[in-house]
Amino acid sequence: MKSTLPFRRTAESFSAAAKTLPQEYFISPDVFAIEQEQIFSRQWILVGHQSQVATPGDYILAEIAGESVIIVRDKGGEIRGFYNVCRHRGSRLCQEKAGHVSAIQCPYHAWTYSLDGKLIGAPDMDAGFDKTDYSLAAVSVQSWEGFIFVNLTEAAMPLAKWFATLGSKFSKWNLSALLPAKRIDYDINANWKLIFQNYSECYHCSGVHPELTKLSPSDSAKNDLYEGPFLGGFMKIEKGRSLTKSGNACALPIGDRDYNRVFYFSIFPNMLLSLHPDYAMVHQLWPKSPSRTLVSCDWLFNPDAFGRSDFNPDDAVEFWDMVNRQDWHVCELSQQGISLRAYQPGPYSARESIPAAWDEYYLSVMKV
Ligand code: FES
Ligand code: FE
Repeated sequence: MKSTLPFRRTAESFSAAAKTLPQEYFISPDVFAIEQEQIFSRQWILVGHQSQVATPGDYILAEIAGESVIIVRDKGGEIRGFYNVCRHRGSRLCQEKAGHVSAIQCPYHAWTYSLDGKLIGAPDMDAGFDKTDYSLAAVSVQSWEGFIFVNLTEAAMPLAKWFATLGSKFSKWNLSALLPAKRIDYDINANWKLIFQNYSECYHCSGVHPELTKLSPSDSAKNDLYEGPFLGGFMKIEKGRSLTKSGNACALPIGDRDYNRVFYFSIFPNMLLSLHPDYAMVHQLWPKSPSRTLVSCDWLFNPDAFGRSDFNPDDAVEFWDMVNRQDWHVCELSQQGISLRAYQPGPYSARESIPAAWDEYYLSVMKV
């Protein structure tokens, strides 16, 4: 796959006769278990942005394929990952979703680990006990454009190799420098794939998102990534507008100051990356069951925007919180209908070429 294909309208990359997935992909616990094993246990999974662990001792937790992982910045500034499991009797170590520690201390018998995972304190153990035998179990953590990814496999493909086909496509947005202003967590009664499929088309926009459609014509999508694990392109924004409640830019620009486009990309398997002229919005998807998905949505801005009188992040947050909820509602309606016996795979519209491409890549991974 070439990194920079020409922009094509959605219909131009459509595989005619593509249909939605069979019912079991949305309701079967067996399929869900295979996804957790084949996808979430093996692929690079987005867990956050480096600004969330900005200083040594900052940590966040992630639950990946049922495993709790601590992502922490160590004293040397490196971001590391460890299973959240004490090497003494297995207790969970960190309990808060995010925090700051000078060392990782077990709440049970107070074994203490340095931020690079070495056991540095184990009260009253026998004389022959060697602390160097009991470091925390590490997981692979690497960053791409400032976003932190975790891979649970022991010999993970380097993240740079995974993203190599994209080249420097994203560097103009300077994503690693952005700072978060807001996170909203959503608990959605729908299969995680419905959220990808919904994100990947605007066929639904004129009916579901009247406010969005006023600012961004629903048939203006053009894509330059239309096969493989990375999919998406841009939609037009009316000249001089942004995707905010007021319709005006709410912060200093990010990226290349292309004011007339908003870029939407899905990064398999759990990242949605939306790049506006004045902010980035990032969704993390966390499948919890065949019919339930947790989504964390972060809004990130140009660091120079903070503190200025023209900085109004709520204008973007409130707009997308409204649009997000409109989307979750139709995803939940889809889940409800798909779960019934009358459901049969339906034909994708030519305007749904990207959901069809997403399904194709997903099925290729499930077959491995
Ligand atoms: Fe952690 Fe005992 S289980 S110190
Ligand atoms: Fe939508």
